[in-house]
Amino acid sequence: MAVSVKNLKIYYQTLRGQVQAVDNVSFDIKDHEILGMAGESGCGKSTFSNSLVLLKPPMKFMGGRVELDGESLPLADFRKMNEFRYKKISLIPQYAMNALNPTRKIGRMIAELLASRGVSFSKISRELDRRLKLVNLNRSVMKMYPFELSGGMRQRAVMVIATLLDPSLLLADEITSALDVSTQKAVAKMLVQFRDMDLVKSLVFVTHDISILYQIADRVLIMYAGKAVEIAPTKKITKEPLHPYTRLLISSLPDVGVKYSERRLAGIKGRPPGLLNPFPGCRFKERCPVRFEKCDKEPPLAEVSENHQVACWREVGNNG
Ligand SMILES: Nc1ncnc2c1ncn2[C@@H]1O[C@H](COP(=O)(O)OP(=O)(O)OP(=O)(O)O)[C@@H](O)[C@H]1O
Ligand code: SF4
Ligand SMILES: [Mg+2]
Repeated sequence: MAVSVKNLKIYYQTLRGQVQAVDNVSFDIKDHEILGMAGESGCGKSTFSNSLVLLKPPMKFMGGRVELDGESLPLADFRKMNEFRYKKISLIPQYAMNALNPTRKIGRMIAELLASRGVSFSKISRELDRRLKLVNLNRSVMKMYPFELSGGMRQRAVMVIATLLDPSLLLADEITSALDVSTQKAVAKMLVQFRDMDLVKSLVFVTHDISILYQIADRVLIMYAGKAVEIAPTKKITKEPLHPYTRLLISSLPDVGVKYSERRLAGIKGRPPGLLNPFPGCRFKERCPVRFEKCDKEPPLAEVSENHQVACWREVGNNG
């Protein structure tokens, strides 16, 4: 097993209190697996992926454990995490392609990154050429500033940079969101190719656009208000979603390429609850069409059939 996340709690410390953005989340990611992570805006997707690489204030580690290839990650120790960053675990942060330093040429960015990891540029130069070719970029991009590249080219450059040291785990946060549909597909395909070629061992693909997960994810994890509410293989979760929230997500899925965040969910009123002192019990209960008394207690994420975990009393109840 490549990654094991157990009872992970990541909060934000604010003047008004603690925002419980990732609250007791547990799941595994297998070797050579692409795990899709989806859920409405604010459910904790970026908090999860950032916390595994760049955990710093106001983000706060509140508990839990993340193991990568059997080794426990020292998430709360920013300096100790240097040993892992880029080498074993790498992140393409949300908005990365628009956040590249505008005053640095791509080549210089790569050189600086390698220097910070103690890797010599000359050692990796041929491999870099091969990777640029793989994502259809010419070596000339090395001499270019980010603004000289199109969005798709920038995103592909970011993918090459993030995976240059063959990390075991790549966290890719909304890397297709700002791209047009055909570029989205090309970028997603390249990521699958990276996995197939073993350039990364496992991948978490974070997205608003659940329809893109049909094409690339082996399994899908649905987040709701800081909680993991359902995990299953992609086909299973799209054909037989069990959590009422996943059901609504899938049934209100618009045409391919349209982000569901841009539509109100059909048939359910309201919004996800605030994560500053959230109410007890199931966090979906205010919007849930099938809630009942038991929902005032928090439902555990439980295995209801092979490879299918759900956090809902209606499903857990069926299995005793
Ligand atoms: N710096 C911060 N300080 C306080 N709260 C924060 C901070 N950053 C995020 N949050 C809160 O943490 C929760 C999770 O946010 P996060 O960005 O992880 O969600 P997300 O699922 O990535 O959303 P999106 O789909 O919009 O990218 C939200 O309630 C958000 O308001
Ligand atoms: S636990 Fe209750 S409120 Fe939550 S999703 Fe299930 S039925 Fe709905
Ligand atoms: Mg996000």
